[in-house]
This record gives sequence, structure tokens and C-alpha cells, in this order.
Amino acid sequence: MLDLKKYGIEMWEDEKIASFRQKLLAWYDENKRDLPWRRSSNPYHIWISEIMLQQTRVDTVIPYYERFIDWFPTIKDLATAPEERLIKAWEGLGYYSRVRNMQQAAQQIMTDFSGEFPHTYEEISSLKGIGPYTAGAIASIAFGLPEPAVDGNVMRVLSRLFEVNLDIGVPANRKVFQAMMEILIDPQRPGDFNQALMDLGSDIEAPINPRPDDSPVREFSAAYLHGTMDSYPIKAPKKKPVPVYLYGLIIQNNQGEFLLEKNETSSLLSGFWHFPLIEVEEFPDGEQLSLFEVAENQVAFELSPQESFEQDYDVVVNWQEQAFPTIQHVFSHRKWQIRLLYGRVANMTKNQKEEQVLWLHPDDFTDYPFAKPQQKMWQAFQEGKLKGN
Ligand code: ADE
Repeated sequence: MLDLKKYGIEMWEDEKIASFRQKLLAWYDENKRDLPWRRSSNPYHIWISEIMLQQTRVDTVIPYYERFIDWFPTIKDLATAPEERLIKAWEGLGYYSRVRNMQQAAQQIMTDFSGEFPHTYEEISSLKGIGPYTAGAIASIAFGLPEPAVDGNVMRVLSRLFEVNLDIGVPANRKVFQAMMEILIDPQRPGDFNQALMDLGSDIEAPINPRPDDSPVREFSAAYLHGTMDSYPIKAPKKKPVPVYLYGLIIQNNQGEFLLEKNETSSLLSGFWHFPLIEVEEFPDGEQLSLFEVAENQVAFELSPQESFEQDYDVVVNWQEQAFPTIQHVFSHRKWQIRLLYGRVANMTKNQKEEQVLWLHPDDFTDYPFAKPQQKMWQAFQEGKLKGN
């Protein structure tokens, strides 16, 4: 067992722990949010909700959760789902590796556990994409095992309760919060205990504008009692995302269809269909450059994005001189800046690129997975067209 004193943490006496559990759970019984996954104790359902809830807000998750269960009602359905349907189910949630891992885990459950969700912490942890947080959440909520589920919310709440002087953004510090939770967790109601802390952390004990006076456990909170709420949790500021500059090419043919490519790399957005993108070191200076300015600003002998596209695809494009607003999309470590270039091509049957390409009518876009940046590109394109600028 980790020595909490070494980290400057004074754990409470048993009596205080019992009283804390009782206060927290009484508050939870009165105030818990009515969420669809809380009406289920099916581990498959709990798993889906917990994966979706990582990095995504509860309100956003609810419709995705319901549709996911509708599309893939059993672990077997998930294990055998076609890739495109799988990604479609996740479209808009981001971090698509989460759903790919879920499918692999579902296949693992089919082969290694005869299709039945495993019910020990170790076995649950052996599944692809399931780390200590998710394993703890499933074990406690679906199986009633006394396992902590330590996420950012829980670390924030504990930091304030005990004035923990450890950076919650440093992965190595997680084990300290885990050890605290192993002592605090109510062995009678571990799932509710974990979820009560999650509810507390996402509302009353929110990162910004917390309402500590409303906390059911305020008299247990060292930071509240000492007036140091503003100093906890300790968290170093995040590094700024690196800017990436891209031209997004909206290419239309005579049938009103648009050119899409499939991303076959092993990158973040592998498996998605996207408008062709050309990365440049930076945009030429100036806000909204017209097509011709873009070409003129290229360094001598370097191809403009338009020329580079025409060469790559072996086509001649009739580029439209139309300015669209620059689109921004922030991934965790990257900030994409995309400028749209719009052109029409009379004919293009075959191209020399290796990626799969597709001409698709906008009515059929919904059948293909589009990542968020492409959705933004399409929206900006349509808005620009409507304004006719
Ligand atoms: N965030 C992550 N898991 C949650 C849960 N089970 N209830 C509420 N918020 C959550």
C-alpha cells in the first residue's frame, strides 16, 4: 500500500470516512442525474457509456449512446460491424481510435470469454482500450466490485478535500489518487460512490465556477475550510497545439458530385473520407488571398496547391476565384487551419493516386464517415456559396 504521508496527505480516521461515505451517498440518492446508462447494469452498456464519456460531455453523449445500442445491441453485433458503420456511429464524438479499440475488445470477448463480458478487474483490464479508469468504472458500476474509477473529476474533488499538492496533469501522480480512493470507496456501494464523485466533480466541484457552498461534503474539504479552493487542484497549463496549414480542395464534376479520398494512413483519421488536403509550411501572408494571389506567392519552382493537385490527379481544373473563411479545427496537439479552394473539373475517370477516391453526391454524404474538419469544410463551402462572394 502506498504511503500517503510521503505525499503530504493525511488520510482521515475510519469514523470520518464512514461519515463522508454516508453524506456523499445520501446526496447522490437525492440528486443523481437521470442518465440512460444508469438504468442499466449491463456491463456492455456501461462500457459504451464510459468510453463515450471520455472527453465528451454527458449531454452530447446521450443520443450517441442510445443510437449505438440500437445499431449494435449485443457484443457480437459490435464485434462484426462493418468499419464504415462503426465510424458512422462515432461521427462527431472524435478520438475514433476509441471505437476501433472497442470493436477489437468485442472480438476479444467473443473469442476469449465466449461472448460474455468478463467480470473481474484483471480480465476487464485485459481488453483493448480499457485502462484503469474504465476498468474501475465497469467493475464497480456493473459488477459491484470495490474498484476506484479515477478520472480528472475525481482527482479535482480529492485535491480540494485533502489539499493535495500534486499536479493532476502528471500521469505518475494518478497512483496517489488511486490509493486514496481505495481507502475512501464504499465497499457496499462502490458504483454509486464512484458516480457520486463524478457528479460532484462535473457540477458543484467543476473546474471553473465551482459552488463550494453547495457541496454536500464541504465540511470535509480542507481547501473549503482553509479558504484555499482557488489553489486546488494543482495543474500546470497545457502546451499550445502546433498549427498545421492546409488547403482543402472542393472539386466538383459535371454531375454535381464532389471528389473525396479515403484516408488509408494509420493516422488519427484513418478510414475517413475527406476532401483532398494539401499541407503547406504556412499560408502566404494576408487574410483572404484570392486564388491568383496564392499562386503568385508560392516560392519560385514550388507548385501552388492547385498545380500540385492537377499534377497528382492528372486533370485540368477550372478554379473558381472565391474566398471562403479560414476554417479552424483543434485536435489535442494540432490546430488545423484550412483554406478552401473550389474548382470544377469536366472529366476525371482515373487518377494516379494510390488512395481510394470517390465521386459523391452531397445527398449521399450521410452514408460515409466524415470527420469534424470535413464537416466544417462542407459547411463553410455551402455558406460561402450561398453568400455568393
Ligand atoms: N462521466 C464518466 N462516467 C460517468 C458516469 N457513469 N456518470 C456520470 N458522469 C460520468
